[in-house]
Amino acid sequence: MESFTLNTGAKIPSLGFGTWQSKPGEVATAVVAAVKAGYKHIDCAKIYENQEEIGAALKKLFEEGVVKREDLFITSKLWSADHGSEDVPEAFNETLKALQIDYLDLYLIHWPVRLRKGSTEWTSEDAIPADIPATWSAMEKLFDSGKARAIGISNFSCKKIFNLLATARIVPAVNQVECHPGWQQKKLQDLCEAKGIHLTGYSPLGSPGTPWMKGSILADPTVVSVAEELGKSPAQVCLRWGIQAGHSVIPKSVTEARIKQNLDIFNWSIPDNLFAKFGEIEQIRLLKGDFCVAENQINKSIDQLWDGEI
Ligand code: A2P
Repeated sequence: MESFTLNTGAKIPSLGFGTWQSKPGEVATAVVAAVKAGYKHIDCAKIYENQEEIGAALKKLFEEGVVKREDLFITSKLWSADHGSEDVPEAFNETLKALQIDYLDLYLIHWPVRLRKGSTEWTSEDAIPADIPATWSAMEKLFDSGKARAIGISNFSCKKIFNLLATARIVPAVNQVECHPGWQQKKLQDLCEAKGIHLTGYSPLGSPGTPWMKGSILADPTVVSVAEELGKSPAQVCLRWGIQAGHSVIPKSVTEARIKQNLDIFNWSIPDNLFAKFGEIEQIRLLKGDFCVAENQINKSIDQLWDGEI
């Protein structure tokens, strides 16, 4: 349960450390606390704008002998403004440089939507049509180079996975998507399993610190009652539910006590009768992607962005 095996043969730790919304100034301390506590998997992305600080923290951890590079699993993601075939290797190298490492364990296409080079904002002027087959082909070259030990995708619907598989030479190793008891992604999880694609769940706690996502899964009556019955916290129950459902989870925290608490999900389990109760939880996608949807954009509706899988 401590890891899942990817279609490359490599193992991905089932618990990763999320860094989305960890601010510069707090992310280094959090990463150091996480690695010292025993996390082996760090989830990063260029657009989180904190990779330099994470890189400095990793350098220090390696120099001090706290952990070896080969014992960590480091993921990062290609930003939407870097989808151009020639931009993919450049963005990848910039990420390696920022993180101060010479390979990534996993590199993902962050979103199946594209922005003009240099953009960080989803404005109608900056949105341009994606060419996923071309971007994926550039990702495949990174895999061939050995510097991206696995390649994958993020925020891809079932339909977009089928489309990608129609032209891909290499099957993605991972699809990283929102996944928690309140958005269980059963159909997507089944498809990924059938195709040998591992699913990683982001926002596994429903991102309670992000007001616009309106996540309240930690207060969900089913989650709370299971937590009470097992003598665990609602967060631990959400994370344990994820790995028992067959996917890795990447909770974010900048609070040392929570970082440690979230690691304690391995020497106990949710029994079948309680696990079945999660089927009763109302399903609501929290990260709808409104920011890249507008009448004058490529994706005119949330429905179009997710191919009706909402
Ligand atoms: P903080 O970083 O201030 O500790 P997600 O991973 O689903 O995006 O959720 C991250 C949010 O959940 C952050 O706001 C984080 O707060 C909070 N969080 C992380 N671990 C726990 C926990 N064990 N209990 C309650 N909240 C948590």
